[in-house]
Amino acid sequence: MTETATTPGHDVADLGLAAEGVRRIEWAEREMPVLRLIRERFERDRPLDGIRIGACLHVTTETANLMRTLKAGGADVVLAASNPLSTKDDVAAALVREYGIDVYARRGEDRDTYYRHLNAVADRHPNITMDDGCDLVSLLHSERPGQIGEVMAGTEETTTGVIRLKAMAADGALGFPVVAVNEAQTKHLFDNRYGTGQSTLDGILRATNILIAGRRVVVAGYGWVGRGIAARMSGHGAHVAVVEVDPVRALEALMDGFVVMTHTDAARWGDLFVTATGNLNVFRREHFEAMRDGAIMANSGHFDAELDLTALRALAEGHVRDVRENVQEFDIGGKRLNLIAEGRLVNLGAAEGHPAAVMDMSFANQALSAEYVAAHHAELEPKVYVVPEAIDAEVARLKLAALGIELEPMTAEQAAYVTSWQHGT
Ligand SMILES: NC(=O)c1ccc[n+]([C@@H]2O[C@H](COP(=O)([O-])OP(=O)(O)OC[C@H]3O[C@@H](n4cnc5c(N)ncnc54)[C@H](O)[C@@H]3O)[C@@H](O)[C@H]2O)c1
Repeated sequence: MTETATTPGHDVADLGLAAEGVRRIEWAEREMPVLRLIRERFERDRPLDGIRIGACLHVTTETANLMRTLKAGGADVVLAASNPLSTKDDVAAALVREYGIDVYARRGEDRDTYYRHLNAVADRHPNITMDDGCDLVSLLHSERPGQIGEVMAGTEETTTGVIRLKAMAADGALGFPVVAVNEAQTKHLFDNRYGTGQSTLDGILRATNILIAGRRVVVAGYGWVGRGIAARMSGHGAHVAVVEVDPVRALEALMDGFVVMTHTDAARWGDLFVTATGNLNVFRREHFEAMRDGAIMANSGHFDAELDLTALRALAEGHVRDVRENVQEFDIGGKRLNLIAEGRLVNLGAAEGHPAAVMDMSFANQALSAEYVAAHHAELEPKVYVVPEAIDAEVARLKLAALGIELEPMTAEQAAYVTSWQHGT
């Protein structure tokens, strides 16, 4: 790591990649009109003046545009990766060299480096934490509790992080308020469903170049992410089966036109398996043993725990080889099973994550939530808050306006009708 008076603090792979990073960050920005409008307002109003923001997010072109927005608002920003495989090294370099933001992230960093980077963020004593998966909040609570009092609030990007935070709040262990950005409708309805749906397919295709049409695809989990993946796979001509543990979600999958089956049946049936449950060991030893030769597995849930990789490695007894970039083949006794992106988020590990047009809304929620907690933290308790409805509506309104789409206003008569109780049959 180098720290000089002029270069921000950093540990990135190669600062020489900055020019390419800038080109790609600017390309993403064209698809992020909402964030751009917010940045222009932040430049004028400086709502984050004097606030230190510690972010643990995927280091992508879209995140770079969020970091620029926060800095324009006056914040002092430091960023580490929220996943060792999702870092785009050119983006990390550009943020340091061109945008003056401290970045600690290298693609492929090992576990020790990952946590050293997270600690580098914590060393800056953030007043607002911005997490994707709750790792920074967890670090502060488990290893650096003395700093909890310095944090006015946090924000959390993803479903898995929100689940962890709610568990902490229920145990009385959460030390400061956190806004669950994932719970905003303009986040999960679009990012989790359309963003992950498309980019998961993209990651699988880039890694394997397989034909989806006619393939038997098993989607584990029919939440926002699973729905998006199943819809896009189906759109490309796959036969899609869904495995679920929740009866309502399973019924929904059935009525959306998919086959619903157990994990055991699906293991025998499928050619391509994609997990999106936020749970662990969804496919495990007995399922690997039942899969066909040549089966391909990928995960789009937050952690690399959805496929039981320990069991997979044990079954292969060392017969593991790289067969393509981002694809490992496990020979489990005459049968070859393929794993994409080491079982980590396939859309970020083997592709570029969500398209910028979707992250525009997710990160607009992040920026406006940071502004909100900076102004209101004194009124908040140490619990998990949903994004205020006004922010959600503002993000949708700005997105529609940016797309040149006008909303139909209600007539005065209609507005009175939908709020009255006197009208009957
Ligand atoms: N790849 C990405 O870019 C990306 C984007 C958004 C969210 N995520 C992550 O994807 C995961 C899912 O997010 P979501 O918003 O769809 O969550 P969700 O809670 O809406 O859906 C998860 C679904 O999985 C089901 N499930 C749980 N355990 C299961 C099991 N053992 N077998 C089958 N189904 C099971 C649940 O019943 C639920 O319907 C989370 O880890 C989230 O953090 C990833």
